Amino acid sequence: MILITGGTGYIGAHVALECMVRGEEVLILDNLCNSQRSAIDRISVLAGKRPGFIFGDVRNRRLLDSVLRDYPIDAVVHCAGLKAVGESVREPLRYYNTNVGGSVVLCQAMAQAGIFRLVFSSSATVYGDCTCMPINESCATGQPTNPYGMSKLMCENVMKSVASSDPRWSIGLLRYFNPIGAHASGLLGEAPTSTPNNLLPYLLQVALGERRALAVFGNDYPTPDGTGVRDYIHVEDLALGHIRALDALRDRRGVSLWNLGTGRGYSVLDVVKAFEKVSGIPIPLNVEARRPGDIACCWADPQKSIEELGWQARHGLEKMLADAWRWQCNQHKRDEVRKAN
Ligand code: NAD
Ligand code: UD1
Repeated sequence: MILITGGTGYIGAHVALECMVRGEEVLILDNLCNSQRSAIDRISVLAGKRPGFIFGDVRNRRLLDSVLRDYPIDAVVHCAGLKAVGESVREPLRYYNTNVGGSVVLCQAMAQAGIFRLVFSSSATVYGDCTCMPINESCATGQPTNPYGMSKLMCENVMKSVASSDPRWSIGLLRYFNPIGAHASGLLGEAPTSTPNNLLPYLLQVALGERRALAVFGNDYPTPDGTGVRDYIHVEDLALGHIRALDALRDRRGVSLWNLGTGRGYSVLDVVKAFEKVSGIPIPLNVEARRPGDIACCWADPQKSIEELGWQARHGLEKMLADAWRWQCNQHKRDEVRKAN
């Protein structure tokens, strides 16, 4: 059985579904601070059976001890955490407490229970403003520009130390590039309960008419069209990377680093153009100043993941955007029905 912390969240729900489709038993632990219980129903519809669910906090050691004692868990995927960069600047202690504190408590409880296979949701943010492009796993980690990024780097360091202290650990640090998209069914996607942070949620709000224009944060970067370039990856491809990592960790010890990205970079304007093409909706733009802490370019060298995990992203940008748009339209319809009742 796989324990997925943060399993009702955007990425965790896709990982949970993918595990279940592969015949694994899944137990989700989430405190629902940025997700909804209804994700469980949707995963159940798509998987044809229900995952277990524990409502609780990953920092609660007593709860974790009892979960790891009472269920036959043999590996953990640790997605629970806070991820809004701006909020992390305003509330750094909450971020360090949840992200770093949660990881420490989880590792302690796992060690106590004799469970040593762990996959962690890390981020390409740990590379900081890396100048070697594409970025591979041997590029040095940098100085993340905000407490969120710093907390991810700290979690990685905690896990590296833990693995050096005891040879039984098998830990996979998955460095996600920019996950976007949604499940092709339109039933699972990003449904944050707090203010969005990233490009896609804002773009979708403009498409729905909830926002007048998309702010483009800078068009004077040293990139082909002057806007920031990122490696967007379909969340279903990302979820599959976790399954491959869980498998690979059976035969590995210590810490393994894997980039989860496509290896292709797209600018903000590329994303807008592709979205207009798949949705038929024009997106008004408003060029603004650069966002503090932003970098010009960031895309992955996925070769190590291809070789060691036998994993490679399959979906292109248009598919990611079409799936995100389908999910957003479904959400919008559900909200309208709720308001009408
Ligand atoms: P999300 O907010 O949708 O999911 C996180 C889940 O963790 C939520 O369901 C939330 O309720 C839960 N959670 C938060 N604190 C908790 C706690 N103390 N105890 C139990 N549950 C808790 O975010 P996501 O996009 O699915 O991200 C998942 C992980 O991936 C996070 O750790 C995030 O930092 C990391 N990550 C995300 C991105 C991205 O762009 N989405 C990129 C890189 C890394
Ligand atoms: C951001 C975070 C990073 C985190 C990642 C995934 C910052 C500084 N960095 O990275 O730590 O790991 O999300 O959660 O917040 N953009 C616009 N208009 C918008 C929103 C974004 O032009 O309204 C641009 C950005 O300048 C960037 C690109 O779109 O060039 C992608 O932005 P975003 O989705 O926020 O991701 P990252 O900047 O990669």
